[in-house]
Amino acid sequence: MKHRTIIEPFRIKSVEPIALSTEQERTAHLERAHFNPFLLPSRSVIIDLLTDSGTSAMSARQWAGMMEGDEAYAGSVSWHRMEQEVQDLTGMQHVLPTHQGRAAERIIYGHLGGPGKVFISNTHFDTTRANIEFSGAMAIDIPIAEGRDPALEHPFKGNMDLQALALLLTEHKANVGAVILTVTNNSGGGQPVSMANAAGVARLCKEHGVLFLLDCCRVAENSWFVKHREEGMATLSYREIAQHMFALADGAVMSAKKDALVNMGGFLALRDSALAEACKNLLIITEGFATYGGLSGRDMEAIAIGLQEVFDPSYLDYRIRSTSYLGDALHAMGVPLMRPIGGHAVYIDAKRLYPHIPPEEYPGQTLVCELYRLGGIRSVEIGSVMFGKYDDAGSLVPASMELVRLAIPRRVYTQSHIEYVIETFEEVLRTRHEARGFRIVKEPRFLRHFTAHFEQL
Ligand code: F0G
Repeated sequence: MKHRTIIEPFRIKSVEPIALSTEQERTAHLERAHFNPFLLPSRSVIIDLLTDSGTSAMSARQWAGMMEGDEAYAGSVSWHRMEQEVQDLTGMQHVLPTHQGRAAERIIYGHLGGPGKVFISNTHFDTTRANIEFSGAMAIDIPIAEGRDPALEHPFKGNMDLQALALLLTEHKANVGAVILTVTNNSGGGQPVSMANAAGVARLCKEHGVLFLLDCCRVAENSWFVKHREEGMATLSYREIAQHMFALADGAVMSAKKDALVNMGGFLALRDSALAEACKNLLIITEGFATYGGLSGRDMEAIAIGLQEVFDPSYLDYRIRSTSYLGDALHAMGVPLMRPIGGHAVYIDAKRLYPHIPPEEYPGQTLVCELYRLGGIRSVEIGSVMFGKYDDAGSLVPASMELVRLAIPRRVYTQSHIEYVIETFEEVLRTRHEARGFRIVKEPRFLRHFTAHFEQL
């Protein structure tokens, strides 16, 4: 018998209580947080879908591994376990441990970047772009056209536009610092990249003598889509698919807080010895010695084990199917969202949900606050609060989309938690016409979404 129900392929042996609250209490919490969920204490959140980063539940095997963590400053046994695991997965000789993804990004893009340099990606994640731009270089996004249309169905919306890549490589020649393929494409909706697309990118990079890097923090989730959607891939294991993709690249940057199933960690993996040597020198200055790079021995044990567990077919099947379970249920109810559903999150189109709230009044922020008020659910606005800019006259130039991301932590919530989220959306839909927009009353100059204060209109 083939079951309809997606069961969590684990039993729970340690629990973390959730503090339940009433709508009245949450209304007060929201006011105290100036209607910005980033300012809510996590104790007042019932279901936290702010991010899938660093929020995974570790397995019994990982916790047991932590007890074996070797905290030696140099040559730690735990480091060798992590190094071997990453080498086996990526096929890359040189591995540099970092405390999280952006530390690896700062090292590699700080080294390759600088004024006049250009980086090209399907979509640079915010911290990737920030590290590139901070070096003085430019970051250009070239997703395929299908990837820019939220409602359109396409199996690999995370793909890079290869024609645009060929043109840019010819135009910028020796000034291209690297080409970066983000798998899955987080900023583009957690959408997968096909093996054929990665191979196309690799071919063009080789032709032009340009470095090709994978931003691989969700590479296992990407492998699930490749196996199930791409011709000729069904017979490979998820891990083999990831290994094939790594084989195409010259290096990889990883935030282990996602698909390594840990709460903290990252790495940079490279093939080229001279480049690795230069990066290692930078690593030692700010992260730590080359055999720990800002991580405890126990963290490195947990990463080594997490990188194995994430490729377990029953885990990955549960992971991807349970994310789309939420997305498909909301879609069926008539909640406008990004299609098809990606690997780690569901992205709601707040502009279409609240057509009466203009971008200047931040419809995404409205949904974020409604989800918290009605259900204690925390999500994040990815729209004009995050990406809006002011022109010279001081008027807001809105972002191209007004999205809200519901990111699903790995192995943390059960199906009944997800049913609760779906039920909360019934009320969001029922009351959508009464929802009101917001104005910003206080904001910093950079990254305002983290700390801005809002007032309801
Ligand atoms: N690259 C991608 C594609 C990411 O999604 C992230 C983090 C990073 C790099 C940076 O890694 O946080 O370990 O420094 N994404 C988190 C998120 C923050 O919520 O999507 P980090």
